[in-house]
Amino acid sequence: MTSPTEISARYDLTNGIFNAIAQSYDRTNGILSFGFNAMWHRRMIREVGKVPHQKILDLACGTGTLTKKLARLQNAQTTARDRDSLQNAQTTARDGDSLQNAQTTARDRHSLQNAQTTARDRDSLQNAQITGVDPSANMLSVAKKRLGKKGNVTFVKGYAESLPFSEGSFAVVTVSYGIRNFADLEASLLEIKRVLQPGGRLFILEFSPEKGDSPAHIIKRYYIHKILPRIGWISTGQRQAYEYLRDSVESFPQAAVICSKMEDAGFTEVSHTRLKPGVAVLFTGVKLR
Ligand SMILES: C[S@@+](CC[C@H](N)C(=O)[O-])C[C@H]1O[C@@H](n2cnc3c(N)ncnc32)[C@H](O)[C@@H]1O
Repeated sequence: MTSPTEISARYDLTNGIFNAIAQSYDRTNGILSFGFNAMWHRRMIREVGKVPHQKILDLACGTGTLTKKLARLQNAQTTARDRDSLQNAQTTARDGDSLQNAQTTARDRHSLQNAQTTARDRDSLQNAQITGVDPSANMLSVAKKRLGKKGNVTFVKGYAESLPFSEGSFAVVTVSYGIRNFADLEASLLEIKRVLQPGGRLFILEFSPEKGDSPAHIIKRYYIHKILPRIGWISTGQRQAYEYLRDSVESFPQAAVICSKMEDAGFTEVSHTRLKPGVAVLFTGVKLR
């Protein structure tokens, strides 16, 4: 178990780093990842889109890059669904006449089901909501500027280890490049599980380079160890921040260890997918009850 003193020292370290690099974070990220970051985010969004996601917590949201994409995903999906609902509503009105004529056909039964779906869709449209959480005031300030006054997005200052939400508040929790920084991963996973609804899903995107001795592995390790901290330093003027990034990636546990920590926290259907070119991994798991 991590002691309160260790947790508080870790908070000071990470807040210092992320507050210092907030303004140049997105530009440097794009340079360091050769654009792969955007591709990995898109993959994560695609997976989120496949599950019910009326209420999403984007934990360690940083400057809101993923949060913004999540907001777009919801709008796009809701629009398509609403078009369907509208068609259903028209069918329902027409079928109301048929029902008056006491001709209860299979189509009418189907239309009645559609009427119920329409009401449910209106509810989920009203409930559609994304909450971004991060402890760094400067990262959050960039996120708030980026998102402007989007009605369905709220930002809250907070830590993964003690989330300021009641039990079962969210259908989905996303964490992209966040868990590497958490002061207490085990406590954070339990907190995430607490704030998920039963059946809710956790998605984690994280750097987790494979171990290996092939030339490709050696090049990737060399890039992370030698080149990445230098480019980060030149781009931001913040040497410590990118040495921290290197150290946190190098000391991050292998994917199988993260999966077993998720299972220990009580997640089921835990799985992971390594994303090309092999330095990032997408983890997922479900809160059963
Ligand atoms: C590398 S950034 C990732 C930002 C964003 N999710 C993205 O995809 O670009 C990591 C973020 O984790 C946040 N963080 C650090 N420690 C945290 C903690 N204990 N709980 C929640 N977030 C934390 C930092 O403030 C920082 O904004």
